[in-house]
Amino acid sequence: MTKRVAVIGSLNYDIIVKQQRMPHQGETFIADALIQGPGGKGANQAAQCAKLGMPTMMIGKVGQDRFGDALVGSLAAIGVDTSYVKRIGSTGLGVVHVMPDGDYYSSILKGANELLTIQDIEEIAEELKEASFIILQQEIPHHVTEHVIERFKDSQIQIVLNNAPARSISKNILQYVDLLVVNESEAAYMTGQPVTTIAEATETGKELQQITGNTVIVTLGKEGSIVVNSKDSIYFPAKKVNAVDATGAGDSFIGALVYGLSQGFLLEECMKFATEVSAITVMKEGGQDSFPTKAEVSRILVI
Ligand code: RIB
Repeated sequence: MTKRVAVIGSLNYDIIVKQQRMPHQGETFIADALIQGPGGKGANQAAQCAKLGMPTMMIGKVGQDRFGDALVGSLAAIGVDTSYVKRIGSTGLGVVHVMPDGDYYSSILKGANELLTIQDIEEIAEELKEASFIILQQEIPHHVTEHVIERFKDSQIQIVLNNAPARSISKNILQYVDLLVVNESEAAYMTGQPVTTIAEATETGKELQQITGNTVIVTLGKEGSIVVNSKDSIYFPAKKVNAVDATGAGDSFIGALVYGLSQGFLLEECMKFATEVSAITVMKEGGQDSFPTKAEVSRILVI
């Protein structure tokens, strides 16, 4: 049976400003370029799954405005089922400052994302039960994320939580997460430990794995990523590429990872595949628009 993924999360319209450095306090800095387009961690992850050919449904909210039209339109154009995206209020926004090496500073305005309710989830609970994977992030109300995890904890559905932006989440809930993905700052927030080296990331990954009892991935941007499960912890270096924009690279990584799992790849193969896919993403400007399609990654898939 074809594996279906349900992404319950945010849709943001991204305003990406390319600039040489962040301004100092009180300084007006002249930037180099503006890129606008679809973003939001939820929509990004859905976009990457769909671009790789997975049947993907997006559950979330956008505004009754032109940004909302653009977000729904672009997801639908790449094959995401957007019939579960409701329209209310004003669309969430991402304001991203991208530096010459591709690294970014990001802020979001929650907008309609914050209006997703438990009732919205309950209305489509039967459809959600058909999914093989549910992917969640933390740009929707915290209690909705927790409700979804609790609601489907006894099902066959694999629950993937990207705890970004990092929020406190109880051990009681985390134990039902099949795959937890966090970057270094989110791992540091969750454990209260500094995460600046591969060794520290491995230690915090192990600590988090003790809580979930399942698989934990700590991503480290240009340094790569670490996967920890009950048997092992394995470090995967990132590919050395000419990075121009890392916006959404973590989301591209997660989408590719879930695609790999849906195809029955071994975890190690999924990590290598996701590393390759996100390396392609950072070499192009923009968010979702820079994510590769299945055709673009076919070379990697035959390895
Ligand atoms: O992960 C990148 C995303 O974070 C951006 O698209 C922005 O909208 C924020 O949600």
